[in-house]
Amino acid sequence: MTPCGEILAAEIRAHGSIPFSRFMEVALYHPLCGYYVAPRDPFGKDGDFYTASQVQPVFGRLIACALRQCRAAMAEPAGFTVVEWGAGRGEMAAGLSEFTYFGVDFARGGAPLQFEGVVFSNELFDALPVDVARIRGGVACGMNVGLEDDRFVWRESGPLAPEWREYAASLLPHYREEAEIWLELPVRLGRTLSAMCAPLTRGSVIAIDYGYTARELVRFPRGTLMSYRRHAAIEDVLLEPGLQDITAHVPFTYLEEAARAEGLQTGPLETLAQFLLRAGEADQFASALAADTEPESLRLRLQLKSLLFGMGETFRVVTLRKEGLL
Ligand SMILES: C[S@@+](CC[C@H](N)C(=O)[O-])C[C@H]1O[C@@H](n2cnc3c(N)ncnc32)[C@H](O)[C@@H]1O
Repeated sequence: MTPCGEILAAEIRAHGSIPFSRFMEVALYHPLCGYYVAPRDPFGKDGDFYTASQVQPVFGRLIACALRQCRAAMAEPAGFTVVEWGAGRGEMAAGLSEFTYFGVDFARGGAPLQFEGVVFSNELFDALPVDVARIRGGVACGMNVGLEDDRFVWRESGPLAPEWREYAASLLPHYREEAEIWLELPVRLGRTLSAMCAPLTRGSVIAIDYGYTARELVRFPRGTLMSYRRHAAIEDVLLEPGLQDITAHVPFTYLEEAARAEGLQTGPLETLAQFLLRAGEADQFASALAADTEPESLRLRLQLKSLLFGMGETFRVVTLRKEGLL
C-alpha cells in the first residue's frame, strides 16, 4: 500500500468508512505523502499532465494582456495587485512580473490582507476535494470510501446532509432517466472562493477550469471523477492514493451561485479560446508572439495554436466582479 493508503486505511479501520473528500484530501494534500506535496513533480512531460500554465511564454503573455485590460477598466489603480490561487510550481510568475504578484498554493505563499486587482486561478477548482452521492430511484445517498482486503472500495453512507440533498434534488431534472446517477458534491468550493475573494476590495476573479453547467450534466450520469498518471486517464480514483492525481469537473452553475452569495457579479461563461482571443486581439497578438528568431516565432505560434485549439474549447473562464464598498 502507498504511504497515503496506509494513513487512510488506519483511519478507516479505527473509525469506519470515510467521506470521499477526506480520501481526496489525504491523497492529494497530506503534508508528508500527498500527491501535490511529494517531491515528484506531477506537471509536464515527465509528470502526469500538462496545464495551460506550462504553455509559456504565450499563456503568461496573454493572461498579462487580459490583466492589463482589467487594470484599465478599473482606471489604472496604483496598487493593482494580482493574486494567483493554486499557483502550483509558479509558472505564471515570470509572465506576470510587470504586476505586483503573489502566488498562493496549498499551505504555501500568502495573499495580502487587502488589495484591489485580480484574483486568478488555473485548474484550482478541479483539484478541490469533493464528496460523492449516488442517486437511485430519485433517492440520493452519500458514497464513502471503505476497505476490503486492503483495497479501497465505495461504501454507501446514508442520507446526505440537507444542503447537499437539496443540491442533488435541484440537479436531478437535468439528467435523462437513469437507473443510477453518480454526482460529485463540491463541499470545499464555497469556502475556497470565500477565502480567495475576502481580501479583494475591488476588482475581478478570473478562474479557468474545465467543468459543466447544470444543463450539461446530462453528459455525466456516472459523475466526472478521474485520475491521471503518466498522461493517461484512470477511471478508478481509489487506486494508489498519493501516486495519481484526482480531479472532478467544476460545477460552474454552483460556482456562480456561490459567487453571487459572496456579493460578486457574474459575467458570461466563456471558453478559454474566446477569452484568449479577446485578450490578444487588442494588439493583434503582437506582444504574445514577439520573438527574436524565426524558430522561436514558430514555437510561439505553435503554443498559441495549442492554447486556442487544444485547450481552448475544453476549458472555460469564469469572470466574477467585486465592485467594492461605495
Ligand atoms: C491542477 S494544479 C494547477 C496548478 C497551476 N495553476 C497550473 O495551472 O499548472 C492545482 C493546484 O491547486 C493547489 N490547491 C489546491 N487546493 C488549494 C487551496 N485550497 N488553496 C490554494 N491552492 C490549492 C494544488 O496544490 C495544486 O498546486
